[in-house]
Amino acid sequence: MKFKTWALIVELCFLSGFTFTEVNSVKASSMKVISCHFSADGKWLATAGHDKKAVLWYTDGLKPKSIFEGHSSLITDVCFSPVLPYLATSSFDKTIRVWDAGSPHDSLHTFRGHSTCVMSVDFHSNRDDLICSCDGNGEIRYWSITNSNCAGVFKGGTAQVRFQPRLGRYLAAAEDFSVSILDVETQASRQLLQGHVKPIHFLCWDPSGEYLASVSEDSVRIWRVGSGDEGECIHELRSKGNKFHSCVFHPTNPSLLIIGCYQYLELWNMTENKSRSVPAHEGLIASLAVSTATRMVASASHDKFVKLWI
Ligand SMILES: *[C@@H]1O[C@H](CO)[C@@H](O)[C@H](O)[C@H]1NC(C)=O
Ligand SMILES: *[C@@H]1O[C@H](CO)[C@@H](O)[C@H](O)[C@H]1NC(C)=O
Repeated sequence: MKFKTWALIVELCFLSGFTFTEVNSVKASSMKVISCHFSADGKWLATAGHDKKAVLWYTDGLKPKSIFEGHSSLITDVCFSPVLPYLATSSFDKTIRVWDAGSPHDSLHTFRGHSTCVMSVDFHSNRDDLICSCDGNGEIRYWSITNSNCAGVFKGGTAQVRFQPRLGRYLAAAEDFSVSILDVETQASRQLLQGHVKPIHFLCWDPSGEYLASVSEDSVRIWRVGSGDEGECIHELRSKGNKFHSCVFHPTNPSLLIIGCYQYLELWNMTENKSRSVPAHEGLIASLAVSTATRMVASASHDKFVKLWI
């Protein structure tokens, strides 16, 4: 009884003055949605998944704007360029496609070279010509949009690749239980972040590019990625049963990480080391995205729905 009262007080403290609510929801596909991403100005949201298509939505009202078709197998990742009106998709069909967001008729480029399923794709934060992808065999490739060719091949990423925001000096690549922090220019490994005991599914930088979150089924870790050689794990949250899958830093509360689980969103106050669950979907929350422009969060799920939160 005593313990229960204490727990309730903790819960109320956590909630004081802070709300996180669903503001819109749409059935985005007839199949599982795997990935979502906001355009730089936050006006559009792109989603993609098992139906092999990418869909562009007006964030305001969640009405579809256009559909991008061309992949012959499921799409694993979708992202917008931070500077140009382009989006990129990676697919089980071994290709990466770059599309003009304004003209959905055909892709601008189709990049071939991976020998197996492409698992992830990302645009560099300020070099508008550079994109990066990784495949199921751990191969990472750089691609030049201007030259329409492969600009580098190296090893070290299977699940996800994410460029450091703002500075763009590093690339974070998740492979099995560890994250490699690679120098974008030299492709040299600067840090190896180790400690997960289950495969890592998802990576997310904070907007400053100083911290990186990594998610495996049973734990989420926050790393300080400084200029030194050692990456330091500064926070860890262990699952109490709910499987973790995706994450994003809250747009206005830097102490808060939003974690996508099976059906639930877990809101983790890293400073207090306390978390609470919010019912959100009927399936796994495969992807989360944030817009710093509109301060909205998007969740995409295997339940075929995409939701907006604020
Ligand atoms: C997280 O915890 C810190 C420290 O107790 C507190 O100042 C902050 O308001 C909390 N954030 C939220 C969103 O509850
Ligand atoms: C955070 O809380 C968990 C239990 O919920 C505990 O195991 C862990 O040690 C705590 N971490 C810190 C840094 O206090």
